[in-house]
Amino acid sequence: MNILHIDSSQRLEWHSRALSAAIVEKLLEVAPTASITRRDIGADPLPQTTLLYAAALASPASLAAPPAGSHEILIGEVEAADMIVIGTPMHNLTIPSVLKAWIDQILRVGRTMKSTPAEKVGLLHDRPVFIGVASGAFYTGERANQPDFLTPYLSLSLSSIGLKTQ
Ligand SMILES: Cc1cc2nc3c(=O)[nH]c(=O)nc-3n(C[C@H](O)[C@H](O)[C@H](O)COP(=O)(O)O)c2cc1C
Repeated sequence: MNILHIDSSQRLEWHSRALSAAIVEKLLEVAPTASITRRDIGADPLPQTTLLYAAALASPASLAAPPAGSHEILIGEVEAADMIVIGTPMHNLTIPSVLKAWIDQILRVGRTMKSTPAEKVGLLHDRPVFIGVASGAFYTGERANQPDFLTPYLSLSLSSIGLKTQ
């Protein structure tokens, strides 16, 4: 049993980190021998995708073998995980850019999903994904005072590679 624990807040002691840590703690109560793979993209941000990577993804011939980078390591971490826990702040109504950089590297046609005329179909097997979101104001419920582009975006992105969020 392996838990991939991702945090995307730059702030090291704050709310989304507390949420994701609490989720991991609960999971460890159920699976005490589980190992934890840590990917702290808040403290150690990923680079943005490069021109070479973007160019490779634009061509069917080079799609399957884009230039070396962190993407295979990141996809490997997802593949090796039985459960994934993500802590994220809401930044300007959606996910922070560091989490978007992670998504840009793990969603790849021909590797983690295939593109059909109707929709994108995930190539990874499903596993539970738990997301702890921290925001400064309400984005859900009766007191919501802003739209929520975070939850639908993150859910749809992950489901496009086969992962259903919970
Ligand atoms: C750049 C930036 C943009 C933010 N945008 C929003 C926002 O659109 N809606 C909101 O409710 N809070 C927003 N916040 C507040 C954070 O979501 C809030 O402080 C949250 O607690 C941050 O998570 P953390 O405590 O894990 O760092 C923003 C904060 C920052 C730094």
